[in-house]
Amino acid sequence: MRQIDGSRIYSNFGPLARSMEARLAKSFGVAEDNVCSVANATVGLALALIAQNPPPGSLCIIPAWTFAATPHAVTQAGLIPYFVDVDPETWALDPERLSAEIAAAPAKVGAVMPVAPFGRPIDVSAWDRFRGRTGIAVVIDAAAAFDSLKPGLVPSVVSLHATKVLGLGEGGCIASRDDELIRDLRARCNFGFFKSRESRVTATNAKLSEYHAAVGLAALDEWDVARQEWLAVADEYSRALQGSNRVRLQAGFGTEWIAATCVVMVADAGADRVEQALSAEKIETRRWWGRGAHDHPATRNMPRSSLLATESLAQSTIGLPFYRDLEPAAIDRIANCLHAVA
Ligand SMILES: Cc1ncc(COP(=O)(O)O)c(C=O)c1O
Repeated sequence: MRQIDGSRIYSNFGPLARSMEARLAKSFGVAEDNVCSVANATVGLALALIAQNPPPGSLCIIPAWTFAATPHAVTQAGLIPYFVDVDPETWALDPERLSAEIAAAPAKVGAVMPVAPFGRPIDVSAWDRFRGRTGIAVVIDAAAAFDSLKPGLVPSVVSLHATKVLGLGEGGCIASRDDELIRDLRARCNFGFFKSRESRVTATNAKLSEYHAAVGLAALDEWDVARQEWLAVADEYSRALQGSNRVRLQAGFGTEWIAATCVVMVADAGADRVEQALSAEKIETRRWWGRGAHDHPATRNMPRSSLLATESLAQSTIGLPFYRDLEPAAIDRIANCLHAVA
């Protein structure tokens, strides 16, 4: 706070935001200029689409198994969300299997926005190849994937909201190995200004304030400790659920990657039963993505293809209590309930 008042710079990619971007870039393993901070991930997703100039009014393919922010960002970018199904194993879009969806789509497909489900990493290089092969714009919604993201050329957008492992209250960042794209996005976050006060491109105000960046720097200072704490809680869950073939954690959760949501898959579409049983024990759960992003009043009239895997995931997955100081005894109590009902 003293540094902010000392420099009298409160926003506009000030020294704290730039320093936070450089540290985020280091943690993603990319060059310093390959990360641009944003006010939140939703606006970052929209700008990252706009920056690639997809045909206005064309379809943007998104998985139905995602949060409501994904279709909202597409609409903000002047495109029409087109919901397609995910792979039942990875819970994500498969770039190799998208050509049939594109051929069968009700209109021209101008963009695709794959989602890293609850922070589980997706193969960004496969999406670089997809864009190279098809010329279709790609933006990766990596909202929960701060821990695991390996950015490629297509832009990946990470949320730094309070619900994420690295939380600033509100915030986000866009990462790409394409320097030019990140320069362009920086201007699009700032009214389309490049080095003058002339607005040159379609833009908005999506800058992260220095106050948020200060919290981000503090969160980065403690990230190594925080990560160990998140991993330890995930490890307790994995121990408590060991041996159950009825309740499964996401692949790699707590061993290869970490996120701030612990979403389990319950056999026999058992999420409702788990929700009721845990609620009776006063244990809160969360259906983070409801029945899917296609099933909100705001999105119900948007086009979609068959969504069988999404519908099945909505009935069989549920978010368990998950926070850094969750005690092993509490996890045992949750796991006992789960074993009894599942
Ligand atoms: C998949 C997904 N996309 C986008 C967002 C939006 O992020 P933000 O809240 O930073 O706008 C979220 C938020 O949780 C999300 O889960």
